[in-house]
Amino acid sequence: MKWPNHGGKSESIKQLLDININEELLDFSANLNPLGPPSWLKETLTNHYETVTCYPDPSYSKSSAAVANHEEIEQDSILLTNGGAEAIFLVAKFFEKGKALIVQPTFVEYERACKHYHIEVEDVFYEQTNGFALPMSVIREKLKEKDVIFLCRPNNPTGTVIAEKDLQLLLTEGKKTGTYVVVDEAFVDFLPASTPSLSKWLASYPNLILLRSLTKMYTIPGLRIGYLMAHPSIIRILKNEQLPWSINSLVDAVVPKLLEDKSFVEDTKAWLREQSEYLSEALPPMDFYLSPTQVNFYLLQDKKQPNRTEELFYFLVKHGILPRHTQNFKGLKGEFLRFAIRSKEENQRLVAILQNWRVES
Ligand SMILES: Cc1ncc(COP(=O)(O)O)c(C=O)c1O
Repeated sequence: MKWPNHGGKSESIKQLLDININEELLDFSANLNPLGPPSWLKETLTNHYETVTCYPDPSYSKSSAAVANHEEIEQDSILLTNGGAEAIFLVAKFFEKGKALIVQPTFVEYERACKHYHIEVEDVFYEQTNGFALPMSVIREKLKEKDVIFLCRPNNPTGTVIAEKDLQLLLTEGKKTGTYVVVDEAFVDFLPASTPSLSKWLASYPNLILLRSLTKMYTIPGLRIGYLMAHPSIIRILKNEQLPWSINSLVDAVVPKLLEDKSFVEDTKAWLREQSEYLSEALPPMDFYLSPTQVNFYLLQDKKQPNRTEELFYFLVKHGILPRHTQNFKGLKGEFLRFAIRSKEENQRLVAILQNWRVES
């Protein structure tokens, strides 16, 4: 079967599985915030319609200042990007023809970007038996041979968060061995407020590069906005590599307001706390494994019959649910499905259908 590379694509999945149902699938495959976009966004974009008649400010000064203020760092440590995806490819360009370590399973674009820039990639693996914790000893062994290690924190697809002390150790060792640590924080906004931001670490670790995305929290995959944070000397180089006017004028107009909307983020965290609790109570007693996620998606495995995951996928689609397959996530052997955490009613519907699977299979 030719599985799509990313989530969504409800119609092509129905075609692929030859499932003939008229209803739109309930999309659990895209890990976006179901509360978004913020209610004011549509009107604000409309109000800024006139900006499309001019080229954007090439330095994006208002948005950059808003990000600097939000992160409490200087503007020369920030580069706005066309989504997290552009940030990943710009960083890969920086290490062109070098050697990278990737901890799998993780977001597939790191490998794609490395291939694009002829970077030699070695994979190491998180293990389910270890709660998907970072495999520190094998990484430490290999670090000195590498120019860069790509980490995703919180990790897509597991939702797990690398321990701060492990990251600190890698950054300290990387400083000695000339190894950069790239941390993709596309989902960091979903973590509890008590989790300190890594942007404060940039001053101590010139080998740290942080990638961010506004896509996930604000449900704006179509707008394309992210940013990269690093030592000013790296930012200067990457800026030179970036295509001119990479961010459009409409996005530039709304970034400050998005970052100011703290209540939207707080409401999201409250919903997430409640629904994470519900799912972690409802699913394990039915013999489903849930990855120890801290964010808005999780891996699910049928503990009784992990080798029947493709059938489970088919069953769910037939019942109007679209999960994310994990066929192109290395190390998962296709034995898991990834689900976004959605509204209370939608999560309840999913639980009921999984209950039917348990009874019928
Ligand atoms: C971990 C991670 N990083 C980055 C991205 C890219 O996001 P965007 O380019 O929409 O900002 C994604 C999208 O799925 C992701 O999962």
